[in-house]
Amino acid sequence: MKRAVIRGTGRAVPSRLVTNADLSEMMDTTDGWIQERTGIKQRYWVQEGEILGASDLGLEASHKALEKAGWKPEDIDLIIFATLSPDIFFPGSGCLLQTKLGLSSIPALDIRQQCTGFLYSLVTADAYIRSGLAGKILVVGAEIHSTGLDKTTRGRDVAVLFGDGAGAVCVEGVETGTDMGVLASVLHADGSGAGALMTELPASRLPNRIPLDLKGEEVARYYPVMNGKSVFKTAVRKLPQVTREVLEKAALDIQDVDMIFPHQANLRINQAYQQYMKIDEGRIFNNIDRYGNTTAASIPIALDEALEQNIVGRNGETILFVAFGAGYTWGAVLYRF
Ligand code: COA
Repeated sequence: MKRAVIRGTGRAVPSRLVTNADLSEMMDTTDGWIQERTGIKQRYWVQEGEILGASDLGLEASHKALEKAGWKPEDIDLIIFATLSPDIFFPGSGCLLQTKLGLSSIPALDIRQQCTGFLYSLVTADAYIRSGLAGKILVVGAEIHSTGLDKTTRGRDVAVLFGDGAGAVCVEGVETGTDMGVLASVLHADGSGAGALMTELPASRLPNRIPLDLKGEEVARYYPVMNGKSVFKTAVRKLPQVTREVLEKAALDIQDVDMIFPHQANLRINQAYQQYMKIDEGRIFNNIDRYGNTTAASIPIALDEALEQNIVGRNGETILFVAFGAGYTWGAVLYRF
């Protein structure tokens, strides 16, 4: 049986570092409020006026991942691109990345599953590999949030949370007799939570998708809206649940996991998860203080950092990815090096 094995990882962020103090000049907020409630100290946003799409950041991360994997772009059979902030309304960013990599004709697909997007993509890659439909897959999570945030006081509850970033992972199907690669996975969705975290416009369901003249309140419908408390409470409930599900599937215990990579939405969510699951602080990887919430990019960025720092990657080591986000969607993947 072929297993999905990670061969290389890469990450990229835009050049503009935005601190909480910078945000307090744009809106009524403080470094204290943001750090206390979210753990975020800084994030990266594209420069004012810079033209940079999710596929551009994804390209930079992909080149780094390809180099580490020892792959050339021509080796890739399939591109899976996770984003909620595609470069353009359509076609998908996977197609744009394909051509930027100098490729043609290989399939490319976008996954629109927000903060769980990378996990949906990794599980899709695993399914392609197990079925024999693809052998070498480039999985990318990339977001440009900053160009779509309401940076006034009206949008402060959402704008302070999000950062731009990309992570890429080269996944290869390897015939192996040992238990390695993706061991088990669980994915979920609950569309009844869609309104709790969403961006409404542009919307195909409207008779006039393109507004002719935008005024005051109309503009707000182009920005993300969030019921923060509801999202928080649901995340804290679902993350432990899906962790138990995936562990059961693999017949493992939480103590068998060497390092956990939760999605980086809020440090307090991850601390609550850690306490609930009775995990020591040293076994949970957090970097939200430096990046903010980069949505589909957060887990591959974290994995790339942890591999670079030799925190994980030794043969036989088991790691867990777990995420919850808009949709609602949530999932978990167990992986062994
Ligand atoms: N700066 C300063 N004050 C802010 C603020 C900001 N950036 N954003 C909101 N406030 C204000 C609110 O207006 C409110 O004021 P009020 O009491 O006068 O009405 C006050 O701070 C408290 O807001 P509240 O929403 O109760 O804060 P909270 O403790 O619930 O924290 C979140 C807000 C967003 C940090 C928290 O709900 C959260 O993290 N939720 C999950 C979000 C998430 O993970 N999203 C991504 C999922 S993938």
